[in-house]
Amino acid sequence: MTRPITTICCIGAGYVGGPTMAMIAKKCPQISVTVVDISQPRIDAWNSSELPIYEPGLDEIVFECRGKNLFFSTDVEGAIRDCEMIFVSVNTPTKKTGLGKGKAADLTYWELAARTIAACSESDKIIVEKSTVPVRTAEAIEKVLQRNCPHDGVRFDILSNPEFLAEGTAIVDLDAPDRVLIGGKIENAKGQAAVDALVGVYSNWVPKENILTANLWSAELSKLAANAFLAQRISSINAMSALCEATGADVQQVSHAIGTDTRIGSKFLNASVGFGGSCFQKDILNLAYICECHGLPEVAEYWHSVVGMNDYQKSRFVKRMISAMFNTISGKKISMLGYAFKKDTGDTRESPAIDVGHGLIEDGAKLNIYDPKVAAAQIALDMGEEAMKSITCCKTHTESLTGAHAVCIMTEWDEFKTYDWEAIYGVMQKPAFVFDGRLILDHQKLKDIGFIVYALGKPLDPFLCSAEGAP
Ligand code: UDX
Ligand code: UDX
Ligand code: ADP
Repeated sequence: MTRPITTICCIGAGYVGGPTMAMIAKKCPQISVTVVDISQPRIDAWNSSELPIYEPGLDEIVFECRGKNLFFSTDVEGAIRDCEMIFVSVNTPTKKTGLGKGKAADLTYWELAARTIAACSESDKIIVEKSTVPVRTAEAIEKVLQRNCPHDGVRFDILSNPEFLAEGTAIVDLDAPDRVLIGGKIENAKGQAAVDALVGVYSNWVPKENILTANLWSAELSKLAANAFLAQRISSINAMSALCEATGADVQQVSHAIGTDTRIGSKFLNASVGFGGSCFQKDILNLAYICECHGLPEVAEYWHSVVGMNDYQKSRFVKRMISAMFNTISGKKISMLGYAFKKDTGDTRESPAIDVGHGLIEDGAKLNIYDPKVAAAQIALDMGEEAMKSITCCKTHTESLTGAHAVCIMTEWDEFKTYDWEAIYGVMQKPAFVFDGRLILDHQKLKDIGFIVYALGKPLDPFLCSAEGAP
């Protein structure tokens, strides 16, 4: 019988580490959870009334547990020394330079975290990989840990526990996960005991049958595979959206029709201007790179095409906008509603709004961006100094829409549906265009008001069909 864990430390107070640890603290009052980060401003924010990330339901849990059994600190070494189990949820972006650049995962932060763990550990630790890491990272990390620990006899057991939460629904996902996946060295007794210890933590609220165990590599690969499959569904429906426009079919009717086949299922079939977020593209590039490294170029190419279709969808959207607006948007004001990569988050990583924004600016447009949760400073950081000369970050949707020739919907925020579109029509230039990249608006109503409407994957407005050079 494994002794239950009573102290947990999590390295990395980001989108994954923060919410996951908050949920563990809430569900396991007997466990003391300390979340550490090298970024002082991030930790200060976690300790303030304005948390560094927006996630529905997160504030309540943090405010309830903070100071009781949930702590945020920059004392990485101290937290490592004092705990039994360490979750590592540092960022693993795609490499920007060197071997595998643009494809492989950059494990600099992971390795640094591992070296710190090795240096500070005075007692046995169970290390839990939370970040998405390429397959067989655990093996490499184990070597770093074992070879760098100055204290004799300290044992490290490595587990892979990939996180499947989606931003915007993190709390719901953590509260009732479809499954929890734990990979470990289940072939030996100590490895099995480490797995059992983590199963013990999750058993506080997750039914046993939803806690799956696997060998280390299978668990690591499952995370990449899950994200690749999800992204592939979006690219598939987005490919259909292009064909629907060309043939007069309606992509939402197609989604509905195929989604009722239980073998296909109805979720994740919403055509969009493209998927974004920190995971999908990064994980697919990573998966493809691993395939290449193992002499499987055909498999790599298959997964690459999912990213290729996503890029095509974004550039197709920009082309549609330009051709609809008489092949020129030079000097025209375009309102961009939504900038986050999906609703209910302020996260902008890999948001399609970034590429679409650059595409429009390259053709001379002036952008008025409004997003309910994204700060102007973040937009400036993403878009760069040069592009910002053509961008105004707006505090309200009205400010963004006044005097605009067109509006494009980049994020499916619910509030966009509630706007007074009749009044909006009144303050825009004519003809007034709506480009709905998320299929959230009532297109017939907009047409009745007088807008020229382009909705992805929907039968084209006759006005758009006649626009020269339509893609
Ligand atoms: C298919 C569709 O399922 C059906 O809806 C449509 O009307 C006709 O085409 P069918 O070709 O009869 O039906 O059989 P299906 O069960 O879909 O299998 C097709 C092929 O896929 C078979 O060779 C099957 O062995 C293979 N398959 C199926 C797999 O290799 N793996 C699977 O997980 C499922
Ligand atoms: C994803 C996975 O869902 C999650 O399991 C994993 O842990 C991390 O990566 P996340 O990126 O937070 O989560 O959000 P997700 O809901 O998957 O959306 C990703 C992107 O796909 C968003 O840009 C979203 O707008 C887009 N999307 C999603 C579509 O375009 N159509 C859909 O039908 C679903
Ligand atoms: P994710 O979406 O995977 O959670 P984030 O970028 O939101 O990624 O969070 C990762 C966090 O990890 C950042 O706040 C970063 O400062 C922190 N971090 C990176 N390396 C270390 C390290 N060696 N020690 C402590 N924190 C780290």
